[in-house]
Amino acid sequence: MKIEPASALVGAAAVPGVKGISQRAILLAAVADGESRISGFGRAADTLSAIDVVRACGARVTDNGDDDIRVQGVGLRGLRAPDGPIDCGNAGTVLRLTCGLLVGQRGSFELVGDESLTMRPHERVAEPLRRMGARIETTDGHAPVRIEGSELQPVSYELPVASAQVKSAILLAGLYAGSGPTTVIEPQPTRDHTERLLAELGVRVRRTAKSVSVWPVDSLPSFELEVSGEVSSAAPLITGAVLLNGSELLLRGVNVNPTRTGLLDVLERMGARIAVFNRRTVGGEPVADLEIRSSPLVATTVDGAEVPRLVDELPLVALLGAFARGTTVVRGAEELRAKESDRIETVTEGLRAAGVRIEARPDGFEVRGTPARPRGGRIDAHGDHRIAMLGALAGLVSREGVDLRGAESVAISFPGFFELLDQLVQR
Ligand code: S3P
Repeated sequence: MKIEPASALVGAAAVPGVKGISQRAILLAAVADGESRISGFGRAADTLSAIDVVRACGARVTDNGDDDIRVQGVGLRGLRAPDGPIDCGNAGTVLRLTCGLLVGQRGSFELVGDESLTMRPHERVAEPLRRMGARIETTDGHAPVRIEGSELQPVSYELPVASAQVKSAILLAGLYAGSGPTTVIEPQPTRDHTERLLAELGVRVRRTAKSVSVWPVDSLPSFELEVSGEVSSAAPLITGAVLLNGSELLLRGVNVNPTRTGLLDVLERMGARIAVFNRRTVGGEPVADLEIRSSPLVATTVDGAEVPRLVDELPLVALLGAFARGTTVVRGAEELRAKESDRIETVTEGLRAAGVRIEARPDGFEVRGTPARPRGGRIDAHGDHRIAMLGALAGLVSREGVDLRGAESVAISFPGFFELLDQLVQR
């Protein structure tokens, strides 16, 4: 796909529902009692993978192709083992959180995924679950992951890496574990959608600055949940509006959970003009409207403590850094190597090919900014949706445009991305 240069992003838009909340809601609805209704569902390949998984395990899902999904729950211990493997597609959140639910069921389950998901590290979830008594094996640390349902005991586990997916898998297994609390201690706070949703469902949840505990339950009630807009899908639009002179962009109903808004803080440090207003609560999560205008930027440093709050937005920080006065540094972000692609390599390779002065580091990257637009060139998304969106944005802010290979992978999280961009772009 050829992405031509743009002069501005102008207009108002809403983004699809938060991917991780949509996935969590489907998984929890499947083990609730009775029918749950999820509105504002963020329809995308990764959230449809959550539906595929619960259907494979016996939950009935009514999906009429809109953003309203109904799930007929089978009860806390009612998931059934299908005859064959359960396909999680590209979705790490689905595979890892499903592990947390399946270890407490009856029967043998096998979880598989596409090539990227297969190769990602899954021992990080298997190891703590085994400490709870789970029978779970990875394939040399990768998928397929095999699970035999068993009795579980509570655990107190200190995460070696800050990962909301690992935390969530342990907390979900904690619903099945003995009679006492299961506790996860985090090196840095990560997104807390799981614990918010569990608390909404009446599960006893205790939170401290560094830990979260859940108590086991006998059953979960069905629920109605409205999902707010995905900040990670808003992020490429925000980036475009900040970088393209004369932009004026209004994004309505964006989730501004403080565990997710690191990009907004980084942009503020860089001098961007973003108004966050009309704050409200939707589905137990903080939500706001955002108004973004273009502005000159200064370089900044993002380090490990901040990384979990914008981990999926770090590729865009590299592009922002290309326009900022000074050298922008991202460090303590080795987790980027364990994402859908090795994002330290794919970001560096892609932006270099477009003329950005960026160097990879073992744990991040460094970008030298200039006020001039980079030339543009050819960027390969390597099947990674975040790199495809980065490549698209790089094209808009370049002089000659970008030939984007693998643009279709945006469908993993944001199938309507290019249509929405077309509505907002001024040439
Ligand atoms: C997610 C957590 C993050 C993030 C991923 C979604 C989640 O992964 O990168 O896109 O929904 O919990 P880690 O928790 O592994 O860092």
